[in-house]
Amino acid sequence: MEVKTSLLDNMIGVGDMVLLEPLTEESFIDNLRKRFDHSEIYTYIGSVVISLNPYKSLPIFTADKVEEYRNRNFYELSPHIYALADEAYRSLRDQDKDQCILITGESGAGKTEASKLVMSYVAAVCGKGQEVNKVKEQLLQSNPVLEAFGNAKTVRNDNSSRFGKYMDIEFDFKGDPMGGVISNYLLEKSRVVKQPRGERNFHIFYQLLSGASEDLLKKLKLDRDFSKYNYLSLDSATVNGLDDAANFRTVRNAMQIVGFMEDEVQSVLELVAAVLKLGNIEFKPESRVNGFDESRVKDKNDLKEMCELLGIEQSVLERAFSFRTVEAKMEKVSTTLNVAQAYYARDALAKNLYSRLFSWLVNRINESIKSKTRKKVMGVLDIYGFEIFEDNSFEQFIINYCNEKLQQIFIELTLREEQEEYIREGIEWTNIEYFNNAIICDLIENNQNGILAMLDEECLRPGNVTDETFLEKLNTVCAYHQHFESRRSKNSKFLTDHSLPHNCFRIQHYAGKVLYRVEGFVDKNNDLLYRDLSQAMYKANHSLMKLLFPEGNPAKVNLKRPPTAGFQFKASVGTLMKNLQTKNPNYIRCIKPNDKKAPHIFTESLVCHQVRYLGLMENVRVRRAGYAFRQPYEPCLERYKMLCKQTWPHWKGPAREGVEVLLTELQVSPEEFSYGRSKIFIRNPRTLFFLEEKRRQCLEDLATLIQKIYRGWKCRTHFLLLKKSQVVVAAWYRRYAQQKKYQKIRSSTIVVQSYIRGWKVGVRREYRKFFRANAGKKIYNFTIQRIVQKYFLGLKKTLPSMSPIDKTWPVRPYLFLDNTHKQLQRIFHLWRCKKYRSQFTDEKKSVYEEKLEASQLFKDKKTLYPSSVSQPFKGDYLDINKNPKYQKLSSAVEEKVLLADVVNKINRANGKGAPRVFLLTKSNFVLADQKTGQVKASVPLPDLSSVSVSTQSDGFFALKLKEGSASAAKGDFLLSSDHLIEIITKLHRTGAATTDQIGVDISDEFLVQFKQDKVCVKFVQGTLKNGGTAACKRKNNKLLEVSVPSP
Ligand SMILES: Nc1ncnc2c1ncn2[C@@H]1O[C@H](COP(=O)(O)OP(=O)(O)OP(=O)(O)O)[C@@H](O)[C@H]1O
Ligand SMILES: [Mg+2]
Repeated sequence: MEVKTSLLDNMIGVGDMVLLEPLTEESFIDNLRKRFDHSEIYTYIGSVVISLNPYKSLPIFTADKVEEYRNRNFYELSPHIYALADEAYRSLRDQDKDQCILITGESGAGKTEASKLVMSYVAAVCGKGQEVNKVKEQLLQSNPVLEAFGNAKTVRNDNSSRFGKYMDIEFDFKGDPMGGVISNYLLEKSRVVKQPRGERNFHIFYQLLSGASEDLLKKLKLDRDFSKYNYLSLDSATVNGLDDAANFRTVRNAMQIVGFMEDEVQSVLELVAAVLKLGNIEFKPESRVNGFDESRVKDKNDLKEMCELLGIEQSVLERAFSFRTVEAKMEKVSTTLNVAQAYYARDALAKNLYSRLFSWLVNRINESIKSKTRKKVMGVLDIYGFEIFEDNSFEQFIINYCNEKLQQIFIELTLREEQEEYIREGIEWTNIEYFNNAIICDLIENNQNGILAMLDEECLRPGNVTDETFLEKLNTVCAYHQHFESRRSKNSKFLTDHSLPHNCFRIQHYAGKVLYRVEGFVDKNNDLLYRDLSQAMYKANHSLMKLLFPEGNPAKVNLKRPPTAGFQFKASVGTLMKNLQTKNPNYIRCIKPNDKKAPHIFTESLVCHQVRYLGLMENVRVRRAGYAFRQPYEPCLERYKMLCKQTWPHWKGPAREGVEVLLTELQVSPEEFSYGRSKIFIRNPRTLFFLEEKRRQCLEDLATLIQKIYRGWKCRTHFLLLKKSQVVVAAWYRRYAQQKKYQKIRSSTIVVQSYIRGWKVGVRREYRKFFRANAGKKIYNFTIQRIVQKYFLGLKKTLPSMSPIDKTWPVRPYLFLDNTHKQLQRIFHLWRCKKYRSQFTDEKKSVYEEKLEASQLFKDKKTLYPSSVSQPFKGDYLDINKNPKYQKLSSAVEEKVLLADVVNKINRANGKGAPRVFLLTKSNFVLADQKTGQVKASVPLPDLSSVSVSTQSDGFFALKLKEGSASAAKGDFLLSSDHLIEIITKLHRTGAATTDQIGVDISDEFLVQFKQDKVCVKFVQGTLKNGGTAACKRKNNKLLEVSVPSP
């Protein structure tokens, strides 16, 4: 289980000075000491880290510690520089805020060490990968290179940075380092030629002489013995705990990692060797005729070796040390140099050579670590610390000015800006007093009357300019400045101050008073190198030398003075300050516990002094009265909106109200925050951590959700792919399997086939004789059978309809079936007629019988017949039984009436017809009056002998009675009817059933017996008047003529 420690756990003193009670300077120092004694070198003031130099290695910078502080909240663990580095890195990575780590403190307080710790922590926690690791390694390895060339042992610090360094580490959007840019500030180059007592030249000289192989030394024409070199001080050539030889190997290795080529390293070392050689060149005076001394190189060996090293023509350099060419307005004047001037020229060359080499190194490193993409930046500032030496010169002045500026930015951002912000935001606030060093900065950098401006003015002034004239100028201009002190100033206050030598001025810096000796100020500010020298250097047959002295190119003679050192420095510091102000600052305030560079010693006065000038007490006070954290409403809402339902995912109203809703919802107690005009102020880090923790949890949930959906999608896509592939594989496999199976079956079939064929061949051979005899017949029979079968089956399908009158019949397919075909047609017809008949009822049958009889009687005999075929034989046309008109008549006729119709009885006298009801029963036929229904005649059928009709289409018929019968007395009847065929047929049938046949005569002339007379009825064809069917006319007594229409 993870054990959570806290700032408050196992605390020695208090980890955060904000919690100190009571807050006095005494308790503050006491707390620092208590913690220092327990090796707790880090203490917080809110988010500012105070770091005490332990002067011993502590087990708190291990990989385990890195892991412990990784991704933990600032106040969660005991104070550590890693906590600050982690906070800065996370805020850079997660919130896209550019960061800067400002490390301040005096020389030896531990700034450089702190900067390295920050860098190594960031390198350990940021992303990994081949490319990223290479970048990290290059960034880290730039340190040993720059330290070797830019650091030196001083009385204050065995590894004192003699240059200012600001490094931008560049990250991509993920927080992986992509590269960096290093800016260097004014190297203390005077150290190259002269070191104060107890101090050393830059490390690289000692490292080279101690660590180089014999071979290399030989190549560089060097001797391992330090004492052989004028530029190396001897009293502290070796430093305790510093292994120069080992460090040389480290540096060479680092140069290789950073990306230096072997020949580049060689060139660099040649230049270092050249500087040492240069220091050994000595001069002697040589009297000239004009009485002046001219300098001459004493022992030319070193000069020769140096020229060989750099590929310079010896005579050119030699001349440059004896003569100086001054160019003014197209004129060239050559003057001789005396010995002092020659030494000055030599040292100037050495200093320039070395400082330019250093700048080249920085640029070369920058080239290697240059990043392609740059999204976020973390700047680490490690500048030379504030220093007070016995003898302070221009360099210290510059270094201390830089520290003043840093203090200023600290004041600006933590004390002034913070307090002003509370007021601006309308938060209740009681002002806290602090010392603002802006006034000191102004003393130094003011463009009109600042010390640097005065110095520049002096340097540029024509006439006799010396360091003394510069001091005089200061004495006039700055006399009344509160922080400026000088013996000869117009301010009489210092006239008797014996601690102030005449050639010095003193500045009351924020960190203490520093006495500056003016000697060298003008020269160092001018930073002049005789043109003869730079031209000699440019002529060198050495690639690096040419690069370092571009102004020596005769083609680029520039008479303009280069900007002064002070001017350049002021400008670069100004740019740096502006740059720092755009980033989120993180402070590490380094404190030096003692002056002895020794562990376990806590010099209270020294610490107290630092605490005072660093303004740490004020820092605590502002912090205690104020709020630990502030943020504009918009980003605050954006960051925490997921913690409350009302604000997630979008808040519609003003951001401030959103934040209010959010904090109320989260039940943060009201004294924990204040609402400013544009920002929310959170009092305790605890509250911030609470919010952060909640956010973290919430983000985890959201991440899980996203993960879940993504995983689901991924699985599904994978599954679908698998499925698709499986289908393809299966299809191919099935194809393959089927192919195999088919091939197997095929080959088996071929085997079986071949066996069968073989067998058949055998069988055939054996049975061939039998086949010949029988096969033809069998095949014939079979074929015939098949044809007949096919014929029958085909016939079955193509049979004509069942109608007896349908004459169609399928075409005969084969000639040999002709007979059968005809027979079948006949049989089929008979069969369907039978079928047809079998449907008839008795009633219908008798109707057809009647019709059949009519056909037998009249077909082809009487023209009328065909028109009767379609008429049904209704029989009772009068509805005799039902019609009331004929009630009497029907009751008079006893038998069933077979036929009742109205007929015309032809009058023999005129041939006209009179309507009569004609009834036929089984035994009689009756004629009755149509109107009255009175029976006029009733004739038993046996009395009827025959019926006569014409062959024409008329309806006349004569009923002839048997002579001698009872009914014959009245004579025959000549009648006409529309239903002639039916009446005759029925009469015939009924007569046949009861008596003998009643004969039917069909002739166009017949005789009718009217009472006694026989009258001939004759049918003639003609045209009829009224379009009727027939007309009867009496021609004479014996003849009745019936006209019928011709067909
Ligand atoms: N955290 C630390 N642990 C152990 N020793 C330290 C630590 N910090 C500093 N030191 C010791 O103090 C010495 C001086 O530290 P450092 O070089 O960082 O000082 P500085 O502030 O950079 O000084 P300058 O301004 O002169 O460059 C180091 O060489 C080292 O011996
Ligand atoms: Mg340093």
